[in-house]
Amino acid sequence: MPVSARQRFLEDYRTIRSAEGRGSAEPSYYRALPYRDLSGKNSAQWTIRGKSYRYFERKILSQIERKTGRPLDVLDLGAGNCWMSYRLSLRRHKPVALDIFADAMDGLRAARHYGCALPLLEAEFDHLPFRDSSFDLAIFNASIHYSTDYRRTLCELRRCLRPAGHFVIIDSPIYRLREHGEKMRAERHDDFEKRYGFRSDAIPSLEFFDEQTVAELADELKIEWNIHRPWYGWKWWWRPWRARLLGRRPPSRFWILDGVFEVGRPPLDPLFAPSTQPHASPGRPTGGSAADQGVRPTK
Ligand SMILES: C[S@@+](CC[C@H](N)C(=O)[O-])C[C@H]1O[C@@H](n2cnc3c(N)ncnc32)[C@H](O)[C@@H]1O
Repeated sequence: MPVSARQRFLEDYRTIRSAEGRGSAEPSYYRALPYRDLSGKNSAQWTIRGKSYRYFERKILSQIERKTGRPLDVLDLGAGNCWMSYRLSLRRHKPVALDIFADAMDGLRAARHYGCALPLLEAEFDHLPFRDSSFDLAIFNASIHYSTDYRRTLCELRRCLRPAGHFVIIDSPIYRLREHGEKMRAERHDDFEKRYGFRSDAIPSLEFFDEQTVAELADELKIEWNIHRPWYGWKWWWRPWRARLLGRRPPSRFWILDGVFEVGRPPLDPLFAPSTQPHASPGRPTGGSAADQGVRPTK
């Protein structure tokens, strides 16, 4: 990602998130996430996050824990304020929180509020400074839709996952048709322009999935998906019907995608073949367990 685009993205992102009232000076705010938003400023969104996380813990994580039988090396991709890493550490796992946003309220440096040492890493999805086969599990919580190329992002992740490792995509919008997602993206940028005077499009993030893309990724990258459809309540269930009655585009769904790369079946397209070459990244690890590799506190 070009440095100037990344900088513009982060400036815009900080402006929007701060206007939305993200973060707090109180550690209790962070420790209550995702179940309660003690600030009351984004409660509806955190209610959904809480439901998704509870579902993930009960139906996905507990099964991986049972199968593995030891603390998991987990990569929390696009970790934001690190609430997911904190929750995983409470379950005795070894998370690494990775993000390009180091903000003290809403980014990696907010981790200071949890009262435990979480490994933090300022890095991008597409250039992961880890050795091959470092993680049992990777989680993108409300983050992979910032990717500009799902194939590139997932190929890089594949390199870092252990054989039969899982990656889980939570709280990213999934549409039935691509055109619905494209409409949402255009509406979102128009809305940013009206509110903030910029479109927040310095980086061409994809911003959504559609069913065809999910199927194509499975085919091209040899992913076995387990698709979960959590129950978010009647109000959520009613959204598509309401949209239809009002003649609006269909809303997104928040399915949870639990993916495993098929072992021994590399992607057919050499363009997307996982790299085993060392990265030029300054954060490249030199040794230690996954949670230790090149992971330094973010200042
Ligand atoms: C909506 S926030 C979600 C944060 C957190 N996972 C949560 O559930 O609250 C998306 C995060 O993805 C991060 N992000 C966006 N593009 C990224 C990239 N290319 N590499 C790493 N992180 C990225 C953003 O900085 C942001 O913190």
